[in-house]
This record gives sequence, structure tokens and C-alpha cells, in this order.
Amino acid sequence: MSSAIRVCLFDEFGSDSGPFAAPFEKIDQIEIVGTFKSWDSLQATLLLSDVDVVAVNLDGPGSLDVVARVGKLSHECPVIGISTATEANGIIKAMRAGCAQYVCSPVDVDDLRNAVLRIRPSRLRGSHTCKRVCVIGSSGGSGATTIACNLAMELAHLTERRTALIDLNLEYGDVCCAFDCAPKYSIADICGENVELDHDTLGAALHDLPCNVSVLARPQNIEDARQVTPEGLEQMFRLLAERFGYIIADLPRSYSFLSAVAVGRAEATLIVAQLAVPFIRNASRIYECLLQMGADPERVHVLLNRCNAEYERLTLKDVENHFRKPVFGVVPNDYEFVSAALDLGHPIGADSPTSKARAAIQDIARKLAPEAIVVNPRGQSSGLLNKLLGRKPKAAAPSRA
Ligand SMILES: Nc1ncnc2c1ncn2[C@@H]1O[C@H](COP(=O)(O)OP(=O)(O)O)[C@@H](O)[C@H]1O
Ligand SMILES: [Mg+2]
Repeated sequence: MSSAIRVCLFDEFGSDSGPFAAPFEKIDQIEIVGTFKSWDSLQATLLLSDVDVVAVNLDGPGSLDVVARVGKLSHECPVIGISTATEANGIIKAMRAGCAQYVCSPVDVDDLRNAVLRIRPSRLRGSHTCKRVCVIGSSGGSGATTIACNLAMELAHLTERRTALIDLNLEYGDVCCAFDCAPKYSIADICGENVELDHDTLGAALHDLPCNVSVLARPQNIEDARQVTPEGLEQMFRLLAERFGYIIADLPRSYSFLSAVAVGRAEATLIVAQLAVPFIRNASRIYECLLQMGADPERVHVLLNRCNAEYERLTLKDVENHFRKPVFGVVPNDYEFVSAALDLGHPIGADSPTSKARAAIQDIARKLAPEAIVVNPRGQSSGLLNKLLGRKPKAAAPSRA
């Protein structure tokens, strides 16, 4: 992770490298993400990139509105207001709108540096330990929901941290069907316009499964999908990050601002495809679309599902050459176990711990959570049974080196 403080500049009059940007360019610790003139372009960047601070030229007529919008969209991203106004009234207005710091213009570079360092972003304080993983199917039936559900369980199992599983297929999602549950509340109840979400309301909407996974369902009525707003979703992800170690989001294929919110701060986005031309073709389109939206190519991966070497004409190498990067994971076709699990409304692991598909998904979970290997090296429960029996997990043999 870069240790530079990533700053977006908002200046209704300005352009890149204009006078507003000049003092920021003189501060070594700062990386300027871009200069924005409209809320729409700033919003898209805030949704898709890691931004630590927004600096707003408060002399513009729409600037206080932008300060308030940044606060609403991303509570983790503080705003520095910069203005030629020096009277108390202007400063109070800026602080009330949501500025964390106020710097007078013309800007003294040391003063600006102090203001930026004083609001040292949470990303660099290391307080943010939640990882978000998005899963998108390249075509219907790729296995995205199967992977998302099982990945959530394996991450929870491997890391012993509660994992949230969010069904963002707002119209036709089937995450709850995979777990055979029917929660009373859905994402539409908590991510709608003007909903001030808090931990109590979020907790009531989540359905806790015994496997240490909490599910947030899609709405029951298709038309209620429209109630979900990007701001509501961002607010929900922020609260989820405070209480969960991992968040898995099962995404629809359709592109929307909602998907952009989910992908924007994701540690990884997995495009699930199968080894056949139509799947790979769509996976390419989704890959390109995510990159155009500003997603970091190092965080977008292709994952192959239902692989069966006997039947396929494409090879793993073909896919890797096509995307010019290694495939993130390969899950074999394991129809017997996977379909039985779904019919029974259970995750694969519950009924068939020896399933090859399950083993592959466990490998993917380990790759996504290398930090967890210290806690639980083999993905075995270090666990409950041992604790109940008072056994200690076996320690690794000391090295003789
Ligand atoms: N690795 C696998 N082996 C066998 N069947 C699978 C596998 N992964 C998924 N399936 C089956 O494929 C079908 C579609 O899976 P699903 O996860 O709903 O796809 P998507 O969410 O991409 O539409 C389901 O019937 C599921 O049981
Ligand atoms: Mg699905």
C-alpha cells in the first residue's frame, strides 16, 4: 500500500496544475489523484479509488454543497476547505458543512502540510482491517453465487472472523436460497434514500448463520430494488467494515453505480467464468468495463469454475495469455456435491467436506486472506471441539536451521 496521502482537489474554476493545485504539488507526502470541477466526476473517483482527503476550493458557489456530499458519501474521507475568506462566519459555515480543517488562501505550504497531516487518514493509521471481495459471474450460471456463498463460509472458517455476505443481485439474487433462509429484512430496508443507518438497524437486517456468516438478503419484491441508493450502500459497507473481518458481495452482471460502490473499495473483484469462449468473451468485457470505471487492474481477477479437463477445448494457459495475468483460482466441476448442497439449501462444506470444489474454494480463501494462515494454517478449525476437549492445537515443529 502506498504511504502517500491521496488527495482529490475540487475547484470549480480550476484545471490540473492550476493555482489551486500548486501548494499541494509542493508537499512530498501528497499524491494528487486529480482536480475535479463537477460533483459527478469527483463522486465517480471517490467511489472507485482509494482517496484519503478531499480539498475543496470554498470560493466556488457550489462548494459547500460538495463538502456536505463528500461527508455523506464517504465518512472516512475528511475534507479540507480552502478559502480567501478569513471572517469567522465563513469558517463556521465551512466547518458546519463538514470540513475537518480550514486553510486560508493564499495558501502557506507549511500550514497546508500541517492541516493534511493532522487529519492523517484512517487507511494510513492501519485501523481498517476489513477486506471486501466482490464476485461477478461472466454469464448466467457461471457459478458466481456458489463461489460467493462458499467463499464466505471458508473465509469465516479459516480466519475465525465473522464474514458478511451481501446479495447485490437486487432483482434475482439467490444467496438466501443457497442457505435456505428467508430473512425478514433486506438491503432495500437499510440502504434507501434518507435512511440514517446505525449498527442496531444493520444488525437487525442481517441474518446470522451458524457457520459464522451473516447474510444480507435482496428485497422480496423486484421493484424494491430501486430503493437502494449508492450513498445508502456506501454507508452500509462502512458500518459492515467496522464489525466484520470480511465482506463478500455477490454482484449482478449489469453495470450500475451500485456495483461501482461495491467494487470501488474492494480488495479483490473476482470475475467467475468457465473454460468456454462465451464465458471468456463476457469476462473480458466485464474486465474492461471495471478498468474503465477506474478499478485497479491488480485487484480484478479471473476465476475459472466448473473446470473439467476432459471436455474443454480452451486451456488455462489460453485464458492467462488472453488476460495477460495468472488465473486467480480454478474450481473443478463437482456437480454431485454442489447440486446436492443447493438442493438441500446447505453450503458444499456442510454435506461433503471432501468435495474437490470445496478444497479449491478453500485455496482461494487462503489466497485472499494470507494473514489468516498465521492463525489457522490448514484451514482446520483450531477450534471449538479442541477447546471443548481442552486440547491445544499442535504447534509446528521448530526449524533446525
Ligand atoms: N463447481 C461446480 N461444479 C458443479 N456445479 C456447479 C459448480 N459451481 C456452480 N455449479 C452449479 O451451476 C449452477 C449455477 O450456479 P450459480 O452459482 O447460481 O451461478 P451464477 O450465480 O453465476 O448464475 C448451479 O446449479 C450450481 O449448482
Ligand atoms: Mg447468481
